[in-house]
Amino acid sequence: MLLFAAPVVHQAVVRCSGESHHGAVFAAAASAAATCTVPRHDWCRFRRWKAGFRFGRPVSRLVMSIARAGNDSAHDNGPRAATASGSLNGMLPTTRQVGNQQHVRETFDEQLIRLDPDALGITQKKEELQSVNFMQSRGTLRRLISHVLRLCRKHAVSFVPVYMALLVICLSKVCNLLKPLVFKLALDTLAVGGPRLSLSPTVTRSASGLMAAYGLLRMLGGMLHEARNVFMAKFINRAGRLFARDNFEHVLALEPEFHLARKAGDLVELINDGADSFASLCRLIVLSFFPTVLEFILVCGVLLARFGPYLVTLTVVTFGLFLGFTFFVNNALGITRKIMQGIKREMRGRMTDSVFGIEFVQQFANETLESKRLDACLSEYERNAVKNEYQYSMLNAGQSAVFAMGFTAVLVLITRRIGAGALTVGDLLMVTGLMEQLWVPLNFLGWQYRELKQALISAENVLEILDRPARIRDAPDAKPLQVGGAEIVFDNVCFSYDEVASDGEDGVDADDIEAHEESRGPAGSRLLKNLSFRIPAGSTVAIVGASGSGKSSVIKLLQRMYQADSGSIKIDGQDISNVTLHSLRTSMGVIPQDSTLFNDTIFYNIAYGCPERATPAEIERVAKLARIHDTIAAMPMGYQTHVGNKGIRLSGGERQRVSIARCLLRNPKILICDEATSALDSETEREITEALKRMEHNRTSVLIAHRLSTIRHADRILVMKSGQIVEAGTYAELKQNPSGVFNRMLQEQEVTSKKPLPEEDRISRKV
Ligand SMILES: Nc1ncnc2c1ncn2[C@@H]1O[C@H](COP(=O)(O)OP(=O)(O)OP(=O)(O)O)[C@@H](O)[C@H]1O
Ligand SMILES: [Mg+2]
Repeated sequence: MLLFAAPVVHQAVVRCSGESHHGAVFAAAASAAATCTVPRHDWCRFRRWKAGFRFGRPVSRLVMSIARAGNDSAHDNGPRAATASGSLNGMLPTTRQVGNQQHVRETFDEQLIRLDPDALGITQKKEELQSVNFMQSRGTLRRLISHVLRLCRKHAVSFVPVYMALLVICLSKVCNLLKPLVFKLALDTLAVGGPRLSLSPTVTRSASGLMAAYGLLRMLGGMLHEARNVFMAKFINRAGRLFARDNFEHVLALEPEFHLARKAGDLVELINDGADSFASLCRLIVLSFFPTVLEFILVCGVLLARFGPYLVTLTVVTFGLFLGFTFFVNNALGITRKIMQGIKREMRGRMTDSVFGIEFVQQFANETLESKRLDACLSEYERNAVKNEYQYSMLNAGQSAVFAMGFTAVLVLITRRIGAGALTVGDLLMVTGLMEQLWVPLNFLGWQYRELKQALISAENVLEILDRPARIRDAPDAKPLQVGGAEIVFDNVCFSYDEVASDGEDGVDADDIEAHEESRGPAGSRLLKNLSFRIPAGSTVAIVGASGSGKSSVIKLLQRMYQADSGSIKIDGQDISNVTLHSLRTSMGVIPQDSTLFNDTIFYNIAYGCPERATPAEIERVAKLARIHDTIAAMPMGYQTHVGNKGIRLSGGERQRVSIARCLLRNPKILICDEATSALDSETEREITEALKRMEHNRTSVLIAHRLSTIRHADRILVMKSGQIVEAGTYAELKQNPSGVFNRMLQEQEVTSKKPLPEEDRISRKV
């Protein structure tokens, strides 16, 4: 109804202005109210559609999910989900023993599905969040601008369209400003003879000319508006791509500790959100805020020139109130949005974990638990989304009221001056046109500010990662490693796993790391204690020891996945901290303890070892050496078989053989086998050990094994216990030491292999 009422009321204003002041004032007030309400109504419809579109999937899940009673549980200070998950694994057998499975299970479920309020930012006091919010937003914007400038410097040519867009925006704003001016002139020309009087042909011609100019300006304005979008589209997409690529590269460079402290899904979400928010920030700043501010300044200039300071003051006060109100309410909205984002990240993280560990979930029949864990996030998200909508409606209503009051006052002032003969009806129309022109972008300002906040929150999260220095990186003067015979020397190496990053805190800087170094416990609490050994060039050295004694950690240090606390590690006399990481890691080939495969084809997984050498013939050759070719050939898709998440479609032994083939393809100077054959039957193990032995020829090899028979051929064996080397020698030497740790391990293995089977096993085997 208001849609139709607006022009009628408007016409009444124009008519009344020539007759009575009071009628004009009333009509002006009605016009202002109608003008504010109509776009608001349309905008609300658009906004709802947009929200439904954007959050379509989560919303549909929300509708479908059963409303969980006691949302407040999200506010409890329960243990972290990760800790709870760990305790579940450890406590399941106990649960069965006590026989009170149902009750205990429910308790576990409660703990596991609970959201971590700290992680989501729910427990923070509102005032704290509010102040942090403002400060952080400013800081984030500053950091973001510095990243944009860095990108500008790096890719100067990509930024040319931005300058073009800015120029086009300026031109289009001038067009916008001229439109009401020309319209006013045309109207004043027509009004020369008073209402309904015939005009001279000259007056009619000049009025028609002005109307044509108005139409031309309208057309030009529209075209320029689109032109800026064309220029910006290229820049925004390019900037988003560069930002996402930079982030991804940085994340790949971060040390394992950083990744261990996070859920993979969470990280992926962060990178995606970061790129999106970066693009929308560019869009908002260049296409929304800049034109709005420019337009406001131009309009104020025109108002000042034509109507004097009163009208400008009134306009500035109105928009000042409008902006103040918008920012105030948006701060509250920002808090809710931040919480929503935390929940969304947790939600994605939980979903990714469940999907990645699907086999595990099904084996433990924990589908309901997983669904409940997700629903805990969904219901909390729902609660906050509803709150957000309420706050947003409040914002819209308040904005409309502020603008309506200001606009009414402006119209009343002008109407009075028309009555006094100081202004014309054309002036009234011009001011109405200018104000409406301003109102349209300002009307969206609340939404834009909200989007800006949202984008800043996302950007803030991603900037925390981007600004976090990689703790293991190339030294400024790092040189490529020159490998000759590949002699490896560990000299007094001490090491303990760090807790700096694993507590989930972001923004670890050099000071944190330094403080942590100082707070490290005494040498006794370290994992590796003054470890010194030498592996001569071209020799094969085995490291053995009890589980947890630090064998794999030695390998990780050698690859510089972690940094030793003290001491030095040298390859051919070059300290590994002074060589480039790329040259160091490409000089080694590792067959890891847990063979991780990518969710791709077998061909891709083997080729990953050395993509440059990955011809089909070469892949087949190494697959044959790793005794996996026949198995692959028997598969319907052969080498093109997809192995599934983490290689789930292959058996443990097959996975291990694929990773052996991958390492064989690399043909490294240093070969590292960490329990390379632990998942194989003895026949295959024997065959592969032979292949590896052949491979060990002419290169330095480090073998880690629990089955001592597989390292019999090693030139030297190092026996580790609690992070120290307690024995060293050849297989024969160590065997001869009756009180040695190695001899005891050997005897234990012999006893285990000869041990008669327990009664029930023997019976079942006979059956
Ligand atoms: N990333 C890590 N963060 C913290 N602690 C770790 C990490 N990796 C290993 N540890 C701990 O360090 C200790 C030594 O681990 P390591 O993997 O070196 O043992 P290992 O000798 O290879 O054992 P296994 O024979 O079972 O493979 C273990 O107590 C383990 O819990
Ligand atoms: Mg290990």
